[in-house]
Amino acid sequence: MIAEPSHRGKGIGKEVTRMMICYAVTKLNIKKFQAKIGLDNQVSINMFKKLHFSEESVCNVFKEVTLELTVDDSLRTRLLDDMAYMKEKDYRHACSNRQELSSQ
Ligand SMILES: CC(C)(COP(=O)(O)OP(=O)(O)OC[C@H]1O[C@@H](n2cnc3c(N)ncnc32)[C@H](O)[C@@H]1OP(=O)(O)O)[C@@H](O)C(=O)NCCC(=O)NCCS
Repeated sequence: MIAEPSHRGKGIGKEVTRMMICYAVTKLNIKKFQAKIGLDNQVSINMFKKLHFSEESVCNVFKEVTLELTVDDSLRTRLLDDMAYMKEKDYRHACSNRQELSSQ
């Protein structure tokens, strides 16, 4: 969730979700993703559909839709292409950089 409304709709949600999917597929060998989203959260539903998730079921009791993405060879190849510009950094290193920036 992008908590600050003024930062929504700028491509951040899709970009970050794609990064997590790329990491999960290439580093953790995850083969299937599932997202459960409230039926009234159309923006999230749209975002996951843009990321090639497809609707599996709708639960009217919980008022939510289940979307899934199964990783096949062609998706894996596409994700690897998408990752070409991403840089993996050590979390502790990124954290200390942020602390340095915020203490300036
Ligand atoms: C859902 C959320 C994570 C999406 O992140 P975002 O950075 O705003 O979205 P993006 O700019 O990356 O857009 C991704 C896709 O979402 C859809 N989308 C974005 N804004 C939209 C809007 N205002 N209306 C409809 N669809 C929209 C589009 O399909 C878009 O793809 P496109 O740009 O290729 O057309 C973010 O908007 C959010 O956190 N919203 C609040 C959700 C909420 O209130 N949840 C409550 C329960 S936790």
